[in-house]
Amino acid sequence: MRIDVVTIFPGYLAPLREALLGRAIDAGLISVAVHDLRTWTHDVHQAVDDAPYGGGPGMVMRPQVWGEALDAVVGDVPSGEAPPRLIVPTPAGRPFTQAMAHEYAAESRLVFACGRYEGIDQRVIDDAATWMPVDEVSIGDYVLVGGEVAVLAIVEAVARLLPGVLGNPASAEQDSFSDGLLEGPAYTRPETWRGRAVPDVLRSGNHGAIARWRRDRALERTAARRPDLLAALPPTALDRADRAL
Ligand code: ADE
Repeated sequence: MRIDVVTIFPGYLAPLREALLGRAIDAGLISVAVHDLRTWTHDVHQAVDDAPYGGGPGMVMRPQVWGEALDAVVGDVPSGEAPPRLIVPTPAGRPFTQAMAHEYAAESRLVFACGRYEGIDQRVIDDAATWMPVDEVSIGDYVLVGGEVAVLAIVEAVARLLPGVLGNPASAEQDSFSDGLLEGPAYTRPETWRGRAVPDVLRSGNHGAIARWRRDRALERTAARRPDLLAALPPTALDRADRAL
């Protein structure tokens, strides 16, 4: 998968080269290019923003600079090839979910446009949408100062789903959200720590009982922390033992 990120703070994306993602890059599973938006300014101040039409606080990122940047970074898409997906992180976007991480993981190319200030002139997004799929996405109901941290979160969620990136692919299959529920608690050695014992069932070797126990804890936790997820499950997602809980 190829990933391009356009930002006015390229240094913010340095963590992409750390740890799991760094290894995926070294192994050739992902390639990442980070581009400085100011490359496409033409004035001495390298201005990327201007006052908003209609007034109000803050600044809006200028369309000319973004237009040129996206033209250059996306490049000419060879005929017969699908254009990349453009992802624009914004608190005003659709909520990013694990299902979207799976969709993005199936793409061969993703381009991220990081806005700062009050966002990017909407015409940039509307224009791009005429020649490529565009998603405005939010990573949560809070406001960051720019899209860079959201890009780190989205790229990590996507990259770990790519074949070969995780040491044990089963970890991705058993994630929170894979069955619509939050994952329950996990334990490792020692058997007792500060007077707290690991639940007996996990040491029983009874795989059926362990699976049932894990499912029950996942249901309990989801009911307590994310009742919205439980309510959204299709009726067929719950078995009789689930409903008895
Ligand atoms: N940019 C600023 N806040 C954001 C958020 N919550 N999600 C995605 N991008 C953002």
